[in-house]
Amino acid sequence: MIAIGSDHGGYELKCAVIKHLESKGLEVKDFGCYSKDSVNYPDIAAAVCPAVTKGEADFGILICGTGIGISIAANKHKGIRAALCSDAYSAEKTKQHNNANVICMGGRVLGEDLAISILEAYMNAEFEGGRHQARIDLITDIENK
Ligand code: RB5
Repeated sequence: MIAIGSDHGGYELKCAVIKHLESKGLEVKDFGCYSKDSVNYPDIAAAVCPAVTKGEADFGILICGTGIGISIAANKHKGIRAALCSDAYSAEKTKQHNNANVICMGGRVLGEDLAISILEAYMNAEFEGGRHQARIDLITDIENK
């Protein structure tokens, strides 16, 4: 299952992303919001992140207007490595090197086709482990202090 959430600034892009993922036969759980009415992006991050850290979701997708606020909020959750991506190269690398478990995007920044290509790059990449795991362990050490 893929956990997804957005605030009002990311709502339209989220709908397009869900449509794309479901057209591929993937299971998606939408944690809100459910309209363009204004909501607070930290609440959406707080709904999606536990699904990822508890292992209910394979990974999370979070979208707000810029992707910035919701990525900041997501990264406050223990065990979350949320990456704000605006290009496919970064999306591929953040899986390979950072093992990002949440990908964030800006609904007011990206067109639908670009967002989907970013998401595909992330989903098609594999974590490379090795020296990258050692660096993630150092991040976890900071988190545990
Ligand atoms: C909401 O207007 C907007 O601030 C939010 O979607 C996001 O861009 C915050 O970082």
